Amino acid sequence: MLPQALLTGLLALCSVPISAWVIPQSVLGTVNPPESASQEDAHARPSWFTSALMARRMLALSSSGVIATTFPDTIPPSGRTPASVAGLPIGLREYIADCDGSLPDELSHGDNGDPTILALRVATTFQNIGAGSNLSLELDWWDHLADARPVYPGLPDSPAALPRVTLFGYLEPLPELSTSASASLEKCFLGSHPDAKVWLPGVSGSPHASFWARMVVTQAYWIGGFGDVQQIGWMNVTEWKGIRRHGSLDVGDGRGWGDVRLPGEKGRDDNL
Ligand SMILES: *[C@@H]1O[C@H](CO)[C@@H](O)[C@H](O)[C@H]1NC(C)=O
Ligand SMILES: *[C@@H]1O[C@H](CO)[C@@H](O)[C@H](O)[C@H]1NC(C)=O
Repeated sequence: MLPQALLTGLLALCSVPISAWVIPQSVLGTVNPPESASQEDAHARPSWFTSALMARRMLALSSSGVIATTFPDTIPPSGRTPASVAGLPIGLREYIADCDGSLPDELSHGDNGDPTILALRVATTFQNIGAGSNLSLELDWWDHLADARPVYPGLPDSPAALPRVTLFGYLEPLPELSTSASASLEKCFLGSHPDAKVWLPGVSGSPHASFWARMVVTQAYWIGGFGDVQQIGWMNVTEWKGIRRHGSLDVGDGRGWGDVRLPGEKGRDDNL
């Protein structure tokens, strides 16, 4: 167990310079002098635009995320859903993909960071949305703990130090797609979800009826990690929507999400 003071400090994610941390020797064992003492830049927070690039990159590299919706205020008595969950949120992990750029120009939002979703009509998430719920989508980088470097010398590996973002918005079903548009979207989506070919819209013998949809992002909340070395707060959605893989449209400093790396990533992104 870490002492309460240290835990409280870490969990508060507040903006305290590392030099202000009092980390008892007995907790951390042999502590090397913090890098930050001599290399303050190494511990400066990334700018908000850099954070937005990291968040947008996380969407591009993610194949699933937790979608939160709310149950309707009145649950039909005929169903099996308990009446007591009326109005409550439910978070469920769902397949998503960053495929807007594979849609034809007249349907695409220009690869603006609106996630693509293959919605199953039977699933609770899409039942709630059908009953009027909006949604949020949480993406995180916690599966990459083994590759990421520790943030503070001596602190055990800490998922809390790794980024996560929650996108807010609403679901917009895509209109009927031409054969070539479906083929292009399917190629992109099945790239990260080969198993989903079994329940693509219109597949004969599919166990579940499905439809293509996009989540239109209206807000985004970012937790880059511990607050003394990362940004935490509401992102600028104009920036989010303007970011592209190579460069950005009218936002930022000329970089795109291809120009940043998430914790623990190695090398180039030619393989994306
Ligand atoms: C869902 O989002 C839309 C668009 O942002 C908004 O107009 C509507 O009020 C929202 N609905 C609910 C139930 O929050
Ligand atoms: C968001 O970013 C846009 C584009 O850089 C900028 O014009 C706008 O002022 C920013 N909004 C806020 C609230 O900072």
